[in-house]
Amino acid sequence: MNTIDTEYRLESSSEDEYVILKELLDAGESFVSGSLLSELLGVSRPAIWGKLEKLKSKGFDFEAVRNRGYRLIEVPDVLHPALLRYHQAKLGSTIGALYFPVIDSTNNEAERQYSHRRKGPFAVVSSCQTQGRGRLGRNWHSASAENLYLSVLFEPNIPPQQLQHFTLWAGIHICRKLQSFVPGADLRIKWPNDLFCEGRKFAGMLTEARMDADRINTIIFGIGINLNSNPMQYPEEIRRTATSLHAVHGKALDLNAVAAAVLYSVEKAYNNCIKGETKEALSQAWGPLSALDGKTVTAIMGDREITGTASGIDESGALLLQLPDGSTQAVRAGDVTLKK
Ligand code: BTN
Repeated sequence: MNTIDTEYRLESSSEDEYVILKELLDAGESFVSGSLLSELLGVSRPAIWGKLEKLKSKGFDFEAVRNRGYRLIEVPDVLHPALLRYHQAKLGSTIGALYFPVIDSTNNEAERQYSHRRKGPFAVVSSCQTQGRGRLGRNWHSASAENLYLSVLFEPNIPPQQLQHFTLWAGIHICRKLQSFVPGADLRIKWPNDLFCEGRKFAGMLTEARMDADRINTIIFGIGINLNSNPMQYPEEIRRTATSLHAVHGKALDLNAVAAAVLYSVEKAYNNCIKGETKEALSQAWGPLSALDGKTVTAIMGDREITGTASGIDESGALLLQLPDGSTQAVRAGDVTLKK
C-alpha cells in the first residue's frame, strides 16, 4: 500500500522481513537454512544476518546453529505488521492493513486516509487510541497497549438497505471466530453492538457511513476489543462492567492472530451482505449468541423507556421484547440495559 502524510506514525514491515518471518514461522521448531533465506531474498548470508539483527531489535529472537540455520525462539507480544500479514494470509484475508502504534481513533484515521484518496477496502489497526469513540457520543477507553482497535473502510456504492444488517452480521462472525480462541468461555452478543462474556462487556462495535442521496459511499466498521489488558486497571466507571479476553481465558492471546481473525470476519460479513449471500437467517444465527434472550431488559428509545423480556431479533434486526401485557415490541434503535 502507498502511504500518505498523517500526523501519526505508520509502522510498516519490509517485504524481506515478511518473507524471513513467514519461513521461520512455517518451520515452527525446525531450522531454516541461511542459504534458503539468502536464495529467497536474493541477498548474501551476511545480509540475512543483518536483517535478523534488525528483527531482534524489535523483540524477535532467533537460535542460530552452524550447518542447520535459524529458528525463531521469540516473537514480540505486540501488534506487528508482518505478523499480522502472516496470520491474514493463513486465513485468506485480503484486506491491506495500516498499523499505527498510536492513533487518535482508527475510525478517524480510516476517514483521513480515504479523504487522502486511499481506495477501500483497507484497515487501520492500532493498540492505543488517544480519542477512541463509542456509540452515542461516548468515549471508548483505549489507552492500554495490550488491546486491539481496528477499523475497516469499504466503498460499497449501493443502496443502504443492502448493508442494514452489516454490523449485526459482523458481530456474529466475529463472536464465532473469537470463540475459537477462548474455547472455555461463553461469548455472546448484546444487541446491538456489544460483545459480552460472563455478563461483562469485552468489545464494542461502531459503524459509521457516508451517504449520497440513495447510496452508501463509504462505510467504516470499527471495533475495540479488550484483549490482554487487566480489568483491575480500567477506569473506575467501567471496572465493574467490563472485562478482557485474557481475564476470562486466564491466558494472553496472540494480538496479531486475533486481529487477522477479526479482519477476516468483517470481510466475510461484508461480502455476505453485499452479495445477499447470508446462508442462514439472521434471527437464527443470532439466537444462540444472544446475551439478552430470556432476560428482562429496559430499552431507552428517545424519551421512552420500556421493560420486557428479550426474545430474539426479527428479520429487520430489531430487538423483540415481550411486554407484561402479552404484546411484542420491536426495538429498532436505542440503548438496552439488563435488569438486575
Ligand atoms: C461502543 O461500544 O460504544 C462502540 C465502541 C467502538 C470502539 C471502536 S475502537 C476502534 C474504533 N475507533 C473508534 O474510535 N471507535 C471504534
